[in-house]
Amino acid sequence: MSELNKFKRFTITSALPYANGPLHIGHLAGAYLPADIFVRYLRLKKKDVVYICGSDEHGAAITIKAKKENTTPQAIIDKYHSQIKQSFEEFGISFDIYHRTSSAIHHDLSQEFFLNLYEKGEFVEKYSEQYFDEDFQQFLADRYITGTCPNCKYPNAYGDQCENCGTSLNPTDLINPISTLSGKPPVLKATKHWYLPLDKYQPWLEKWIDEKEGEWKVNVFGQCKSWLKSGLQPRSMTRDLDWGIDVPLEEAKGKKLYVWMDAPIGYISATKQWALDHGKDWTLYWKKQPNEQDNTCLIHFIGKDNIVFHCIIFPAILKAHGEYVLPQNVPANEFLNLEGDKLSTSRNHAVWLHEYLEEFPGKQDELRYVLTSILPETSDSEFTWKDYQARVNNELVAIMGNFVNRVMILMHKFFGGKIETANEKIVLKDEVIGYELFRIWSEIEQNIENYRFRQGMQAVMDIARVGNRYLTEKEPWKTIKTDPADARLALHNCLVIIGHLASAMQPFLPGSAKKVLNMLNWPEETIAFNGEVSFKNGHQLNAAALLFEKVEDSVIEQQIARLQAKKPAVQAPVSQIVPAKENINYEAFAAMDIRVGTILAAEKVAKTKKLLKLTIDTGLDTRTVVSGIAEHYEPEAIIGKKVSLLANLEPREIKGIVSQGMILMAEDPEGKLTFVSPQDAFDNGSVVR
Ligand code: MF3
Ligand code: ZN
Repeated sequence: MSELNKFKRFTITSALPYANGPLHIGHLAGAYLPADIFVRYLRLKKKDVVYICGSDEHGAAITIKAKKENTTPQAIIDKYHSQIKQSFEEFGISFDIYHRTSSAIHHDLSQEFFLNLYEKGEFVEKYSEQYFDEDFQQFLADRYITGTCPNCKYPNAYGDQCENCGTSLNPTDLINPISTLSGKPPVLKATKHWYLPLDKYQPWLEKWIDEKEGEWKVNVFGQCKSWLKSGLQPRSMTRDLDWGIDVPLEEAKGKKLYVWMDAPIGYISATKQWALDHGKDWTLYWKKQPNEQDNTCLIHFIGKDNIVFHCIIFPAILKAHGEYVLPQNVPANEFLNLEGDKLSTSRNHAVWLHEYLEEFPGKQDELRYVLTSILPETSDSEFTWKDYQARVNNELVAIMGNFVNRVMILMHKFFGGKIETANEKIVLKDEVIGYELFRIWSEIEQNIENYRFRQGMQAVMDIARVGNRYLTEKEPWKTIKTDPADARLALHNCLVIIGHLASAMQPFLPGSAKKVLNMLNWPEETIAFNGEVSFKNGHQLNAAALLFEKVEDSVIEQQIARLQAKKPAVQAPVSQIVPAKENINYEAFAAMDIRVGTILAAEKVAKTKKLLKLTIDTGLDTRTVVSGIAEHYEPEAIIGKKVSLLANLEPREIKGIVSQGMILMAEDPEGKLTFVSPQDAFDNGSVVR
């Protein structure tokens, strides 16, 4: 408790997850598990701490999901808020409150914040041209405008992105824009927005961030410096949206607060709600106190994609307001990958927490342990099921569980589970072990206080390692016959080591720590978190219980297979590959005129199952090609697709349509087809040779 000791109070936050989908292991490893360990540690140190989180329920993330699921934003946030809350609870993430940004208290506080800045003249008002639907008398959010993509000519691109070619767009980039509300072309109209002049805060931010060098994590500090280096721009704090918090100004009717303005204020409104519920004064946890040394220590745990919002924009907002403390630290984690690939919600490449709980009931601490051991603290890291199995079997079971179990069983076998000596108290009677435990405790504390939870976890495991070594050395199962007093002493020392272990496990593996404490018959409240362990003479232990179970190969194989089933099929065995053809001469090849083209239109050929009629821009002309791909592609899905076309194939009539050429397709042994397309956006008419 060196650095942290100077603070009287702690306000710890974890990033508010968007309530638009379930949680996976990447969430846990990013902003929640590290924060939970840290907070549990502070509580064990008897610090005044509040741990805040909640659902982020505004912004495009929510409305897009609602659109996808064909439902309302309200239905989406209600569904996922409770699912997310439950997953957190089950993994023991010990928030003091898990709140919601859709709550009234949050809407009020966000508006109050906006007005405070507005009245101080902190905003810069600027007009820009934005699409407006005249029938609906409404400015159109990017997602409410569709049109033709300027890049690939896909006709249904959105105002912010073309989902066909992936290009990110501005609404004004679209060719022939249409409002999805009225189905009519929108008009450009000037719209006013309120900008936070981040450029004005740049000098102050530079100075503030520079003071954090060496104190903040290198990845966080580096990202901040690079944002500052590229020069901050004013950022609009208002949006023309229909889902969010109303901008509290008469002239801003229909406008909403920018989600990244309201979400971090969610930390404060959640604290307010918690204080109301518990008879506390929320201002102590957020506002500057008359004496600086009375200020709370504010720490934001986040993932690296949130750095700019927590280290630049939110501090600028807090600074502009003036009454609030600034974050002391923002320990952002990098990303966690899964089995050699990015975690992805859309590709369903994830280990979902609610599914894990169903398939591994009661095994929360196993996942907590593995994730803590591989936290992406300084660089991206990777979860694999094989590694999960190895860490559970070789570390949790073989080292931690085994030590506790052996000692408990022997104590019951030899002494009926009763701790008895001539003395009043049973304490550690081994200087070497005592010194090792002392060293380990200081390592645990140092590591947690410096956000090195991986190493902290290993230090806890070291206690069990020390115990196993001692037990093996003392062999009480042998000495019980030759020197029973020595066997008793050895086992008593082991029990003290288990006491240390249970104590140190608490922030990391709370469920298992409880189990051990229960075996020791030791009420949780009375255990100190500093390695002061002793038993009263005559203390009775409870029965031994298994802490961790081995993970079988079959369990892991099933998980791996599941993840792979969601991925494209692996290459077929060679025997199924179509045999090679006869050689041809170069002239035969060169005679083929193969061109890059773009599919402009596609429709099914009536009364056929396999055929699509395609309109292709070949760069030379626009022509019709009939292609046997209807069982593989929906016509809408391939509009805008770049293809290779054999352009000088003799025209032939198919089902009454003259087909002028042939699209090149790759076919796998199972008959699956895919386009042979240039990798990059390539001009139509380019030659393939
Ligand atoms: N919902 C955001 C995300 O998932 C995080 C918001 S953190 C807070 O990226 F600052 F807004 F609270
Ligand atoms: Zn496009």
